[in-house]
Amino acid sequence: MPDAARSFTYTALPGRVVFGAGTLVRLPEELERLGRTRALILSTPQQAAQTREIAALLGERAVGLFDGAAMHTPVEVTERAMVTLRELDADCTVAFGGGSTTGLGKAIALRTDLPQICIPTTYAGSEMTPILGETAGGVKTTQRSGKVLPETVIYDVDLTLTLPASLSVTSGMNAMAHAVEALYAEDRNPVISMLAEAAVGALAAALPRIVEDPSDRAVRSDALYGAWLCGTCLGAVGMALHHKLCHVLGGLFDLPHAETHTVVLPHAVAYNASAAGEAMAALARALQTDDPARALFDLAGRLGAPRALKEIGMPRDGIGRAVELALKNPYWNPRPIEAEAIRSLIARAWAGEAPSTA
Ligand SMILES: [Fe+2]
Repeated sequence: MPDAARSFTYTALPGRVVFGAGTLVRLPEELERLGRTRALILSTPQQAAQTREIAALLGERAVGLFDGAAMHTPVEVTERAMVTLRELDADCTVAFGGGSTTGLGKAIALRTDLPQICIPTTYAGSEMTPILGETAGGVKTTQRSGKVLPETVIYDVDLTLTLPASLSVTSGMNAMAHAVEALYAEDRNPVISMLAEAAVGALAAALPRIVEDPSDRAVRSDALYGAWLCGTCLGAVGMALHHKLCHVLGGLFDLPHAETHTVVLPHAVAYNASAAGEAMAALARALQTDDPARALFDLAGRLGAPRALKEIGMPRDGIGRAVELALKNPYWNPRPIEAEAIRSLIARAWAGEAPSTA
């Protein structure tokens, strides 16, 4: 057992996962298993057309579609969906899509406690967590509740075959950040650490091959498997410096979510390298390297992903504000938060320089 001297607490979350190529066709039996007969399908406007297959599979057990899901789960959108849900007398939701749609399904579940079936089409991982972030009047609040954890998740590898390579890469790196931070989380435990190491290994190996051939089903299967494990890590333990930095940067400069995580991750790992030995050893095994931070930076480069915050919209004169906010209400982190080191981390990430362990 890794970290043998530590005591730990581990809470297993309930949930059923149906994984594989072509598993979407099992939706009707999964609905039946939940004892439900009136599903409201959820999607974003962009993915609405793709839900026709779901409606066809369910026949009259699909009572309607709400296709207004939006980023950051705005409360106004949830309230509109609730009106539709009540008008149609739906008894469960089927969320088809990425983080935005999963978020809407969870927001409905929080208000109604109706069961949810999630069908993820990206690597975001939110479907495996009891965490819900909602925005009201531009302010985001996050909560944990067993009510929002989806009852059933159908991972259909075939649905990810058309996820563009560039999006697969940033979505995959964003997912990997959950496994990476799980390895040095304050409440880490050997079970989740085992999943985290496998998750990083699976995604790091799959992403370069997706860039070569986005339609390779076996590789897509490895990536989706890794993404599932990353989501499980996020649902099980707390996140640290990397997530704090990304929330600060995303909030201040309205940066794209997955890209921000992709840029920051190698720097957060470098920052914590000296204070998280077990985690670095696990990452070294998963990434087959003796320098995990550098390996993640190189991986992003090889994948053609952004490596500089300046590339994705952060102004240079924002560095000072970002440092200030990053030092306020810090999350627990294995290495203490030191102002000068954080300033240098953010400056390097802004410029696209290699991560530094100093
Ligand atoms: Fe995250």
